[in-house]
Amino acid sequence: MSDVDLIGIGLTKFAKHDNKTSRDLLAEALQEAITTVDKGINIRKDIKALFVGYFTPSLYEHQSHYGPLITEWFGLTGIPAFRTESACASSSSALATGYFAVASGVYDIVMICGVEKMTSLDTSGVTDALSIAADDIFELGTGITFPGLFALMAQEYFGKYGGSWEDLQAVTLKNHYNGSLNPKAQFQAEISAIAEKIAIKKGVTFKDELDFLNSKYNPPVAYPLRLFDCSPISDGAAVAFLANSEISNRFTDRPLHIKGIGLSTDTLSIAGRDDLTTSKATLKAAYMAYKMAGITPKDIEIAEVHDCFTINEIILSESLGFFKKGTGLAMAQKGITKIIGDQPINTDGGLKSKGHPVGATGIAMVNELWEQLRGEAGERQVKDNPRIGLTCNVGGSNASSMVFIFERGTN
Ligand code: COA
Repeated sequence: MSDVDLIGIGLTKFAKHDNKTSRDLLAEALQEAITTVDKGINIRKDIKALFVGYFTPSLYEHQSHYGPLITEWFGLTGIPAFRTESACASSSSALATGYFAVASGVYDIVMICGVEKMTSLDTSGVTDALSIAADDIFELGTGITFPGLFALMAQEYFGKYGGSWEDLQAVTLKNHYNGSLNPKAQFQAEISAIAEKIAIKKGVTFKDELDFLNSKYNPPVAYPLRLFDCSPISDGAAVAFLANSEISNRFTDRPLHIKGIGLSTDTLSIAGRDDLTTSKATLKAAYMAYKMAGITPKDIEIAEVHDCFTINEIILSESLGFFKKGTGLAMAQKGITKIIGDQPINTDGGLKSKGHPVGATGIAMVNELWEQLRGEAGERQVKDNPRIGLTCNVGGSNASSMVFIFERGTN
């Protein structure tokens, strides 16, 4: 097995991109990724295979057979290309597959892409498209949606460990604050700024941020979750390059080394689980990744954690071993997970504020680590130049979980 390095990465802004197709978005992300390779890359000469994560191109763009489409679009026709699909973890799937391809020695340099063009459908169309990531027979027949599945997890968490929806707003407030510092975020605004805008528009007043979050302007989606507990519907793309560590110095003296990787699954239907407040797939994936990296959760200086709904950031922060079971909510309230806290989580705004074009999310998480571990995150920069970071990207209701550990390297 060879070691594998990340040598460059790029990301579009996450937003509703009305006049752009997924290929346009990927081309934009590719342009940026090329500029991040310190010593330059010639994709026609260097890239030997392409892996692209896109959950449902057939529903959003009436398009399948996406691999050759993108190799053609990028002028790479002839190299092998694969589309991976693991719901919201589709591009982490591409990253894992690309990692295996390089680690095995089959290819020395590969391109990893992630994309989703969701806003070509309206909200009910997107809800329907996302729903096929759940169990068609045992879940969808009940009428449940993804907000509903995570709402059940929140109810069980509050029932078992205490806490309330109000407590969960620590995640909303933190992630919107972080997103306000991120020019690529769909909602580049703190909750206070959003509340002020609505107050002016509607001629109403709010006592504070919680008063706004408690108002009709933050409507219920699935009890206890409300609008601002949900990640939005987004368009966006991300592109990354992986290289065998033995040759990565041709491209950069400052790669990120892939130090650990762990992949696991849980039952697809939550009906098959005995505890909704733990992600068993994440427990296992994290264990494998820590073991491979030879570290413990205490060594993780920054983490990107799949907050598709606010409650999931809490559940995963515990399943990853950052906090003891049942204490994650209290830790978020204490500010431990803020940029200035001891265990910073989702410094880019997370899925909540940055946006969640599902197929792009896994690589977008890695993009934040690239900037943070290389000391290039600007106003979002975590203190003391973190060296080791983790991404945890899940599919569906945590039915698949993919954990990667990156370390700042030198060549
Ligand atoms: N957080 C905050 N504001 C949001 C938002 C969110 N998640 N989603 C939409 N908004 C805002 C919009 O910007 C818009 O504001 P404006 O009126 O100032 O322009 C307003 O709310 C209405 O937007 P709209 O797109 O009409 O909302 P919607 O009611 O159709 O959709 C949700 C809201 C929560 C239903 C939708 O975002 C959703 O389904 N999210 C979850 C996606 C998901 O399940 N992903 C997979 C996870 S496993």
